[in-house]
Amino acid sequence: MRAPVRILTGITTSGTPHLGNYAGAIRPAVAASRQPGTESFYFLADYHALIKVQDPARVQRSTLEIAATWLACGLDPDRVGFYRQSDIPEITELTWFLTCVAGKGLLNRAHAYKAAVDANTASSDDADAGVTAGLYMYPVLMAADILAFKAQKVPVGRDQVQHIEMARDFAARFNHTYGEHLVLPEAVIEEQVATLPGLDGRKMSKSYDNTIPLFAGPAELKRLVASIVTDSRAPGEAKDPDASHLFTLYRAFADETQAAAMHAALRGGLAWGEAKQALFELLDGQLAPLRERYEGLMAKPADIEATLQAGAAKARAIATPLLRELRAAVGLRPLTTPVIVHGEGSENVNASGKGATSRLPTFKQYRENDGRFYFKLVHADGRVLVQSEGHASPKDAGALIARLKADGAALVHDAGRVLRLADAVVGRLEESVELAEVLASLAVFAEAD
Ligand code: ADP
Ligand code: TRP
Repeated sequence: MRAPVRILTGITTSGTPHLGNYAGAIRPAVAASRQPGTESFYFLADYHALIKVQDPARVQRSTLEIAATWLACGLDPDRVGFYRQSDIPEITELTWFLTCVAGKGLLNRAHAYKAAVDANTASSDDADAGVTAGLYMYPVLMAADILAFKAQKVPVGRDQVQHIEMARDFAARFNHTYGEHLVLPEAVIEEQVATLPGLDGRKMSKSYDNTIPLFAGPAELKRLVASIVTDSRAPGEAKDPDASHLFTLYRAFADETQAAAMHAALRGGLAWGEAKQALFELLDGQLAPLRERYEGLMAKPADIEATLQAGAAKARAIATPLLRELRAAVGLRPLTTPVIVHGEGSENVNASGKGATSRLPTFKQYRENDGRFYFKLVHADGRVLVQSEGHASPKDAGALIARLKADGAALVHDAGRVLRLADAVVGRLEESVELAEVLASLAVFAEAD
């Protein structure tokens, strides 16, 4: 079996979700989370919300609403990792490690920061007037969100692609300095999702105040649908569905047969009032069950809190060992671990084959011609200490590496130099290597806890 692809995305907890967010982000993400061969993580980006929202009650309320929205729309917390960013302290720790390798010049070019500077310049203000360091550092925080979980694919809107490129840049700089620890993520842009128009025909957006809230009650929904702009063609007059915002909204929720029927009816002169009634019924039919679930969830914040805590535990099972490894890699180590002085021994070579300045033991994973997945434990001086058994998947090999990092002290070997960790055969001790050297190398990972 192939290892699942790890997908991760964040949802900023500001504002009330609208139909555009649902059709453009929530619905496709929930569908994607059910794809076989994937492992998804969705999190509430509440540290990010603090950049824009400094009203504590609104931050809390919005986190609750957005968590309830995603759960009501069918995200299954048993299948995916669903957690709140601020429950993962590893993210802030990694943010600092990345801050120390991130180029300031690169951050100067980030869209959100540049837009603020451009607006200030245009109004002849000081370039940085009103710009917080939080806004400036936003791409570094976002990179930590992604890199802390070794995510491979990050579904985002076009406006976010630059941030993923920056995450790759920071990860590459970190790896170049400290050895191959971080995975370079890739952006995935949903090409086929439609952009929904709002009440006035511009893109539906909370910035334009033209939205239909996803969970508006039936009366409110009906009123808002009635206020969608249309042209002034009278009942009985043929209408052009392809130029109609009403039809664009209808099509985003209808199946093909319904969409074709509405298309034909408008061309045949259906009155706008009737088309609006049909759109209302279509939306209400689909949203009423979600709305009911949403209201049930909103009434039980303790249940949502428990779901998020369980999600945080699942997420930290990945981030905690990684940060332990990174702390050791950058030199934040217990003073009892042997100090490896720069210039002694040979350089570590990282997985890409380029020289890295890291002087730590490393695990190297690779695939052999037999199709199986192996790893080596390499000493800080470059010698191979342990050669693993073959594994069916990189995930199996990775799981054993994780156990060795956490629990390496329990490693034993027999007369044939076969290493075992409890029930698992790990591999072979290389010739003329002592078990003590292996244990000392593994201790670097474990002691950094
Ligand atoms: P808003 O424009 O209301 O501030 P956000 O920027 O918070 O919305 O967007 C959150 C998510 O919803 C993004 O993935 C974005 O692509 C999607 N989205 C927002 N508005 C629309 C829309 N009108 N149609 C389709 N998708 C949208
Ligand atoms: N900045 C993203 C947005 O505004 C939200 C986000 C935060 C995110 N952290 C992330 C998206 C990590 C993907 C991965 O939409």
